[in-house]
Amino acid sequence: MVMAGFSPDFGPFHGRTWLNCAHQGPLPRVAAEEAREAIGWKVAPYELTQERFNEVPARLKRALAQLIGVSAHEIILGNSSSYGLHLLANGIPWQQGDEVLAVAGDFPSDILPWLGLEGRGVRVRLIRPRNPLPDPDELRQALSPRTRLFCTTWVHSFSGFAADLDGLGSVCRQNGVTFVVNASQALGARPLDVRAVPVDAIIGVGFKWLCGPYGTGFCWMRPDLLASLQYNQVYWLAQMTAAELGGAGDELQLPAGAPTARTYDVFGTANFFNFKPWAASVEYLLRQGIDRVARHDQSLVEQFISGLDPEKYQLLSPPSGQARSTLVFVSHSDPARNDEIHQRLGDAGIGAAFRRGKLRFSPHLYNTNADIEKALAVLNDA
Ligand SMILES: Cc1ncc(COP(=O)(O)O)c(C=O)c1O
Repeated sequence: MVMAGFSPDFGPFHGRTWLNCAHQGPLPRVAAEEAREAIGWKVAPYELTQERFNEVPARLKRALAQLIGVSAHEIILGNSSSYGLHLLANGIPWQQGDEVLAVAGDFPSDILPWLGLEGRGVRVRLIRPRNPLPDPDELRQALSPRTRLFCTTWVHSFSGFAADLDGLGSVCRQNGVTFVVNASQALGARPLDVRAVPVDAIIGVGFKWLCGPYGTGFCWMRPDLLASLQYNQVYWLAQMTAAELGGAGDELQLPAGAPTARTYDVFGTANFFNFKPWAASVEYLLRQGIDRVARHDQSLVEQFISGLDPEKYQLLSPPSGQARSTLVFVSHSDPARNDEIHQRLGDAGIGAAFRRGKLRFSPHLYNTNADIEKALAVLNDA
């Protein structure tokens, strides 16, 4: 059982229960306060000083860097997971006949950017593993001499399975394959230190388990991968500050030296409405400790799974172990009833998701034992 723990730091939810963090995570109160402050800057633009403008992305990069164990200057700020995935797809200098492996049934953002390369002679092949995500042996068997990159989600949005990053990454390393991981359904709910895991690029959204606003995301990639990109992006605010517009010259030169992570930040990098509260959310999570948050979340998952009436429901996501995530999928013994049960949950003020015919519950730190009991009561009563 978990204590009230983190719930006083969120809401108010007005009597409703949100078990759909895999769709949208709520802003913590401290972040909502910072969003209001950011609105204040725009209401009275003299408040939007150069220092504040510069600090918004710098602060967010520091927080994200701490979250995954890298330096702040290695973080690329984006507005989605698709931003980072497209940066890789469009920037890697592909050769005719190169092959990208992705996973059939993965979230569309992990497949579509690569499919867009087919006109450039890059072949996209989809692995169809026994489970929703491949194990290291299945990946090894799927590789061909032309495989250049493997992209997978860490936690699968439509099944709750978590991939074995160590095992998959080792296979990629042994075969010279770039390993790209979409961590959108995991970061914030499970710890990650990229120094200890054989990944080449991590992509994540801010608006789910990191409890940030919608329209936020980031990307990190190994410095050698970053240096290999060939992508034309020269955003003026990545090269100079607005203050420098006061200077006399109108001569512009392309920046000297190799591109850095900053080169590839999303345009409008000081997006203070979004990035200021998101930084506050990530800092909040870091203060709580991701390990502690993960334990809290897993204890709610355990409570949910063990409280389900086994006569009525089948658990479809992993029941235990490393493959279990914070996304729990269940089906009524008569799957045709899942849609109706989803509506019943909604009528009872319980937010859950209906995905590919199944019910998905995704609790996070703001949830309590009482929330889980409430959902179980509606489910087991149905
Ligand atoms: C694994 C995963 N990646 C990405 C997204 C969102 O993609 P994007 O940020 O590109 O809109 C979702 C869900 O919305 C998801 O489940």
